[in-house]
Amino acid sequence: MNSLVRRSARQVSHWRSYCIKQGAPETASPGRPNYEEFIGRHQRQARCSIVVQVSSEKSYPELYNYCSRFGAILGAHHYCVRQDEALHYVLLEFATPDEAAAAIGAGVTNGELSGVPVRSPFLWFRAAGGGRRSPKLTQANPTPQLLSVDGNRQMEQSQLLGLLREAGDIEEQVLLLHKHTRLNELGVRMRFLAALQVQQAIAGMFPDAQAQPFGSSVNGFGRMGCDLDLILRFDNDMGAKCSQDVADPSRLVYHTKENLSNGRSQTQRHMECFGDMLHLFLPGVCHVRRILQARVPIIKYHHEHLDLEVDLSMSNLTGFYMSELLYMFGEMDPRVRPLTFSIRRWAQTCGLTNPSPGRWISNFSLTCLVMFFLQQLRQPILPTIGALAKAAEAGDSRVTEDGINCTFARDVERLGFRSRNQSSLSELLLQFFEFYSQFDFHNRAISLNEGRPLSKPDHSAMYIVNPLEQLLNVSKNVSLEECERLRIEVRNAAWVLESEVENASQPEGEGQERQEMSWGLLNLFKHPEKAVIRPNMFFKPRMVEVSDLFEQKEATGSNPPTPAVTYKSVSVRQQVQSIKAATRSELKQLRGSASSAATNSPKNRRSSR
Ligand code: GTP
Ligand code: MG
Repeated sequence: MNSLVRRSARQVSHWRSYCIKQGAPETASPGRPNYEEFIGRHQRQARCSIVVQVSSEKSYPELYNYCSRFGAILGAHHYCVRQDEALHYVLLEFATPDEAAAAIGAGVTNGELSGVPVRSPFLWFRAAGGGRRSPKLTQANPTPQLLSVDGNRQMEQSQLLGLLREAGDIEEQVLLLHKHTRLNELGVRMRFLAALQVQQAIAGMFPDAQAQPFGSSVNGFGRMGCDLDLILRFDNDMGAKCSQDVADPSRLVYHTKENLSNGRSQTQRHMECFGDMLHLFLPGVCHVRRILQARVPIIKYHHEHLDLEVDLSMSNLTGFYMSELLYMFGEMDPRVRPLTFSIRRWAQTCGLTNPSPGRWISNFSLTCLVMFFLQQLRQPILPTIGALAKAAEAGDSRVTEDGINCTFARDVERLGFRSRNQSSLSELLLQFFEFYSQFDFHNRAISLNEGRPLSKPDHSAMYIVNPLEQLLNVSKNVSLEECERLRIEVRNAAWVLESEVENASQPEGEGQERQEMSWGLLNLFKHPEKAVIRPNMFFKPRMVEVSDLFEQKEATGSNPPTPAVTYKSVSVRQQVQSIKAATRSELKQLRGSASSAATNSPKNRRSSR
């Protein structure tokens, strides 16, 4: 730890210069778009855009030439979707929504296919018929450069690890990881276009309908290839209170069909019907699945022109406002996102998180753990949600249709929160792992509203108070096994990171040797990605004090007897017993094979602490 502190001055200046390069100020961010501005800007951009499938990027000058007749083209992005062969697309942005609408309106139906003709921003640039050519480009109308960047493809693991290997120190590794894995600008544009397509598809009957992206696609914590979470509202009521009553309300009222069943089954019916519509009519939408019995019913689908997984819901406005809170946290301090990315990556590589939902911790819960850690520091880096709620003004009021209060200050400046914490990213990373290796998950709940641990209200293995619905537990799904695994993995990670820093302070020669091998974050990410550990592969042979995770038997030599734990829930007791049994047999096997091999391992230094 001391060596970490010694290096901290250099590292703090590291993230500062990174933030300046990124255009982010050091503390709260005056002048940066707030969440609503960010969403609004991208929604407008989507309305100005079309996606055109082309035979290759070489078609771009001709496409540009052809489409210039509809308006001024501000930008063009090329990307590929790889199926059996690479399919090429160009996303064109016009100066105004009317120009994009003119381009879409000029489209024709593909007479060779028998499908229902649907108008959408997804088009195909067919070869010019009869040998006709588009007019040549004029000098006064220079073609904007075609940016060829993938909007979804993640960097190859080996390439990323190579980049991290070449970094100067752990600090730089954390920043590089963030820079090379976060969702890029094209990825955000593609997601807003997917949302617009849904919105426009129903605009005739529901002119006020809104399809709003939320989750990691917009909260700043998304990585390349993350899914798109979408909420569809038939009206534009996002829970904000109208500040004034309309002076002269219309006397003409729409006739409306009354809901015949309760809210939830009505939503399920609507979603079923909507799922059919997506499946039958929307170009690009495929593999539609309906998950209607979940707490938040969703329709999942794949968009083949965007190579994108979409989760569409109709009744989860709190998720939208939760994304706003995370967006604000990410904007408040430039260390928040790089730190979270490293922790999410670490959790992925050691199999703590998994793309499909289950008994393991979700990325969202893990992000809450990071935010809580940053709130509870002696010098907090983030304010509590309670403080944000207290600082709210009338314009911040948001109440969802089912009465959930999502009111909090949107203008962080008003809160007057300034962090005096100067810790570097590597210090924070280590502190995170140390904090959770000692956290009393057994008795304490995590509250981002209060920024301190609370007594756990039930027997869930992990309890994270849902910030916007405080009677719910965000991590209710996490099993006792998975919670214990998290504790083991954070311990391992703390130890690995600590050893890394110790190694870094060794004399030059040894340091150079280290550079050629796996070091720093690479040692946190050493599990191959494919080896996602499933709960039944629990307790791999790792050098930790497994025994201290479990109470000792009462009559063990001269040690004072540990009182037996009384479990209120039979199922918890059974889970604990089965974990113990599995661990004992695992330890038995390990003892035989590991005792000789481990004698001289530097890892043993850890177990004597
Ligand atoms: P990835 O999809 O894994 O990249 O992360 P994500 O943040 O998008 O998570 P996910 O798709 O599971 O959820 C989407 C968003 O819904 C989250 O970012 C949260 O804003 C919100 N959300 C998810 N679960 C909860 C919950 O239990 N409570 C609340 N209030 N919001 C939630
Ligand atoms: Mg998501």
